[in-house]
Amino acid sequence: MNNVLTINNLHAAVEDKTILNGIQLDIKPGQIHAIMGPNGSGKSSLAFTLMGHPRYAVKAGSITLAGNELNDLSPDKRAKQGMFLAMQHPYEIDGVVYKDFLRQAYNALYDGTEKQLRIRDFHALLLSKVALLKMDPAFIDRFINVGFSGGEKKRAEILQLAVLQPKIAILDEIDSGLDIDALKIVCEGLRAVKHDNPDMAILMITHYQRILQYLMPDVVHVLRNGQIVKSGDATLADQLEAHGYDE
Ligand SMILES: Nc1ncnc2c1ncn2[C@@H]1O[C@H](COP(=O)(O)OP(=O)(O)OP(=O)(O)O)[C@@H](O)[C@H]1O
Ligand SMILES: [Mg+2]
Repeated sequence: MNNVLTINNLHAAVEDKTILNGIQLDIKPGQIHAIMGPNGSGKSSLAFTLMGHPRYAVKAGSITLAGNELNDLSPDKRAKQGMFLAMQHPYEIDGVVYKDFLRQAYNALYDGTEKQLRIRDFHALLLSKVALLKMDPAFIDRFINVGFSGGEKKRAEILQLAVLQPKIAILDEIDSGLDIDALKIVCEGLRAVKHDNPDMAILMITHYQRILQYLMPDVVHVLRNGQIVKSGDATLADQLEAHGYDE
């Protein structure tokens, strides 16, 4: 089977400081890969570089999504190709109503395809996803993330994911700041999204094995100093939880 995402020898720098030192990763459709690793090892930088954040300069290597190289594409074009990033610290955008933003993002993504929806149909889709994530429908009438609690922001990221249905979802610490019930709801939401879209791959950045008990990873990688230093099956996360990184 072809890879949905191929990262080949990726080197990247931020403000001339090298932070990714030759990342190699192959993700197949439908797979869940977890990335673990100490604070500052480059996990979020990898996520931003994949998404094309202008601050992260690719110095060598390539990022290929479903056969198309992304290196020179802007973040919106990468989104259109099917890449999605749920950020560790989602932005607050005052004055932009959540449901309007989501409809624009959806329409931009599916422009010219049969998935285009009229306002009423889009709102029906949106409300079905709000229900799936057991969110209060009032959230979608608020400004993006403004005044949302940490956990509410994370749930709002998954709402976006559920609506946009990417080929690959990069989830940067989606489990941080969630209470026990919210973690379960987010994981059940993710599972439901994946059930509807079995080919969607997930690259899950996390510090904790707990989320991986709900969403069993096919592969677990350890990132250190901008390199993948170890990869293994789900039991690697258990070992890390028990012994830490300094073994
Ligand atoms: N925009 C930036 N400007 C300056 N340094 C940066 C920037 N982004 C990342 N770095 C540096 O790159 C290194 C990797 O940071 P990154 O946020 O990718 O780590 P992380 O693995 O996500 O850590 P954590 O587990 O704490 O979230 C750190 O030393 C960080 O200070
Ligand atoms: Mg991070």
